[in-house]
Amino acid sequence: MTVLYRTFLHRRRPWDLPDSAATPEAVFRARRALAPDPMTLDSLDRRAVLAGAGAFAAAALVPGHARAEDTPDPSAALYPAKRNEKFVLDRPVTPEPINTHYNNFYEFGSTKSIARAAEARPIRPWTVTIDGMVEKPFEIGIDDLLKKVTLEERLYRHRCVEAWSMAVPWTGFPLAALVALAKPLGSAKYVRMETFKNTSIAPGQRQFWYSWPYVEGLTIAEATNDLAFLVTGAYGKPVAKSMGAPLRLAVPWKYGFKSIKSIVRFSFTDQRPKSFWQGLQASEYGFWANVNPKVPHPRWSQASERILGTDETRPTLLFNGYGEQVAGLYQGLDGEQLWM
Ligand code: MTE
Repeated sequence: MTVLYRTFLHRRRPWDLPDSAATPEAVFRARRALAPDPMTLDSLDRRAVLAGAGAFAAAALVPGHARAEDTPDPSAALYPAKRNEKFVLDRPVTPEPINTHYNNFYEFGSTKSIARAAEARPIRPWTVTIDGMVEKPFEIGIDDLLKKVTLEERLYRHRCVEAWSMAVPWTGFPLAALVALAKPLGSAKYVRMETFKNTSIAPGQRQFWYSWPYVEGLTIAEATNDLAFLVTGAYGKPVAKSMGAPLRLAVPWKYGFKSIKSIVRFSFTDQRPKSFWQGLQASEYGFWANVNPKVPHPRWSQASERILGTDETRPTLLFNGYGEQVAGLYQGLDGEQLWM
């Protein structure tokens, strides 16, 4: 209740230490008190929430509703892309209305219900900057970038650090393809990724206690692993704004906060990037953030996960079940905090 009061009712003064700066979970708990969480509802209530989500999706198309653009997405004809059958799921795909309306996107607020606010964000033109330790820095528009890569669909699990999970048919291309276009120097060790910053369309970015823009990073070895995927679409069409259009990351063996949304910059560097959540609470959110059910978060267990849109809870798997593809990346790194 203190968190609820402090976060939502108390007029914040600059000298107050914000609860929300502590951790996404503190805010998560507070917002669950306010907003219905599809995971905890019985099936009748869940149908009502989903009907609401569907009604919202329809309303967003009605003239008069705030939308950044009414022109069709110029990349729409690229979807659906051919599915890469190598990537299989052990559970059903999460229904689209849940994934597009139950989000973490702090740029638009600290509740799960940011889909409507995120609609106001223009996604064209969208320029991606490649810089740092590369042969030659350059900028490229998203539609020109899409012409240089081959899109494919992959079914991936996604495990949030908050202990819920979803399964998504992403469309996109391997991050390795972007690294190849960038031509990093041999001395580059990491890729640092950055989300857009625009306080006039992203109200969350006016919250000064966060260090905007959202930043994430991977080693070059992680970024060029076949699993690291740059997402441009989902559910057979361009990815929804709430899910990080027009370009987001999916690194399914890591906790979800590593999967940065709405990327505008890839910088190659020999310095380990400090990520958004690490900057706020380094003792709880680290650089590596690989999923491990045996290593609890300092304040809760990571042993199991609630599957979004169902009543099911399942044991969480090491590397979220992707160990075969990625465990080798971490050999010889025993001194590192690989699991937070
Ligand atoms: N990227 C940005 N820019 N801002 C965010 O708040 N949240 C992260 C990640 N990427 C976040 C982000 C977290 S905590 C999760 S779990 C996933 O996005 C959520 O993705 P989804 O909303 O598509 O489920």
